[in-house]
Amino acid sequence: MEYTYEYFQKSADFLKTKVGYVPEIAIVLGSCLGPFSQAIEDPTVVDYADIPNFLVSTVASHAGKMIFGTVAGRKVVCMSGRFHSYEGYDFEQLVIPVRVLKLLGVKTVILTNAAGAVNTDYRPGDVMVIADHIKLNGNSPLRGPNVEEFGPRFFDVSQMYTPSLRKLALDCAEDSPLRVHEGVYMFFPGPQFETPAEIRAARILGADAVGMSTVTEALTAAHCGMPLLALSVMTNMAAGVLDRPLTDTEVDETANMIAGEFSEYVKKIVALI
Ligand code: HPA
Repeated sequence: MEYTYEYFQKSADFLKTKVGYVPEIAIVLGSCLGPFSQAIEDPTVVDYADIPNFLVSTVASHAGKMIFGTVAGRKVVCMSGRFHSYEGYDFEQLVIPVRVLKLLGVKTVILTNAAGAVNTDYRPGDVMVIADHIKLNGNSPLRGPNVEEFGPRFFDVSQMYTPSLRKLALDCAEDSPLRVHEGVYMFFPGPQFETPAEIRAARILGADAVGMSTVTEALTAAHCGMPLLALSVMTNMAAGVLDRPLTDTEVDETANMIAGEFSEYVKKIVALI
């Protein structure tokens, strides 16, 4: 499959027929922000399955809907459900959502995710503003013919997590009950959680948290020059930090426990962007 500019335009043109305004901010709702969708006023919901040339999520806890509406007085579009390489998508396919958001006219992207804490000063329930990432696994989503309309073949990623948005997120933490850090996210492809040896290696390399998402979307946003904020919720200490096996139940329980406070925090950031 060749992903041309027209390929992405087809999805965006369809979505433009569903809403009469341009959303300013896109928010990708990770496992910890499912309930955020209830905070969206005047929602217009579009199933991914109805969007031409789009992808369909296969993870049970990811809904698979684009929700347009208003949050904190701002026009937003939320992706409830995202796509991961472990579902079987090629890295090259994972550019689709963010490119469609770009063509919709979205200015700023907020990515959220659940992650395992590698930094032993972190605790489950803490939030990490992503300052930078490490991705040694898998291809770049920008592999293949470059679509010049989006950005250049070779592009800078040294400030891809927009410094002013990171500062805003840290400032918003001051009167939040959440503990908010700034740190480095390391991508692992999953679907298995990491081994304890991988986590020790990640720590030596400078990672503070690990997860299976976000980086492909972030690189796509960086390629087309979109300001970007990415937030991780520590749903668990990473493998081997505690002397017990890791389960997705633990991840879901922390995600549910923190969802309300995390939603409030993200709403505050949206209001101030
Ligand atoms: N590893 C990878 N992805 C995750 C984790 C983890 O420990 N927790 C939540 N998502």
